[in-house]
Amino acid sequence: MEHVLAACRAAVARPGRVLALTGAGVSAESGIPTFRGKEGYWTIGAREYHPQELATHEAFAAMPWSVWGWYLYRRGVCRRAAPNAAHLALAQLARGLPERFALITQNVDGLHRRAGSPDAQTFAIHGDISLMRCANDCVLDRFPIPEAVPDLARGDEVSAATRALLECPRCGGLARPHVLWFDESYDEPRFHLDTVRRLAGEAALLLVAGTSAQTNLPWQVVTLAGRAGATIVDINVEDNPFGDIAAASGGCVRAPAATVMPTIVEAMLAR
Ligand code: OAD
Repeated sequence: MEHVLAACRAAVARPGRVLALTGAGVSAESGIPTFRGKEGYWTIGAREYHPQELATHEAFAAMPWSVWGWYLYRRGVCRRAAPNAAHLALAQLARGLPERFALITQNVDGLHRRAGSPDAQTFAIHGDISLMRCANDCVLDRFPIPEAVPDLARGDEVSAATRALLECPRCGGLARPHVLWFDESYDEPRFHLDTVRRLAGEAALLLVAGTSAQTNLPWQVVTLAGRAGATIVDINVEDNPFGDIAAASGGCVRAPAATVMPTIVEAMLAR
């Protein structure tokens, strides 16, 4: 840990962006199951689905209300969860380095926002489970899922009354969750693709936390930051491919994010 703290301090002393890239592990201690953990499975009819099968445009096209049911269940899990010490520490870092810090998150749970991370410094590259948008892309705007839409329990059907609320406010057609699905691509207007790439190319320090390195844009962020000469640090309870890169850079911390992030942030801000 000491060598990681020293690497972070040295990187902050250089010019350049300070970035954090977070994944589901950062919310694990808030009680939100990680994507690839065992709790992620979902049953529809007689069949058990893995999130990677349900979080697809193909699944939504074939069974929109089953997919919506899964998301309204997950939305409830996220709403009942509270930000943990890692979210709070990253919000403190944003306030401490207002001109330099940006948070890139794969998490759709909204916990960074609820911990106080400013919208202007937070880039949700996989969407936000509290938002919906037109399923036919009549506009790219996102809309809050109406308050009257209830959170569902596991396996609940989406009622007719709820279905009527899940419509695009502009064209009246079907709305969909504002999340990036596995068979879809990143873009700038919805998922900050160009912004995040630019930020990575300006990085002096990249803190990677709680991600298993399975998705494309996080790989681009780590690669571009590395090319820019950034110090890369990996915080995770397990080894992962980003840890291999960090080991040759700023180092790895193998501990829960909520336990170590406050110490790392404190070291970075105590200059
Ligand atoms: P995963 O569920 O794939 O990985 C979670 C990571 O967090 C693993 O590497 C765990 O070892 C680590 N972890 C678990 N508990 C932790 C803790 N307390 N502290 C630190 N690390 C911990 O989640 P992601 O990498 O976020 O995308 O998944 C990436 C994306 O794939 C998700 O955003 C989602 C998904 O399927 C889309 O929906 C497009």
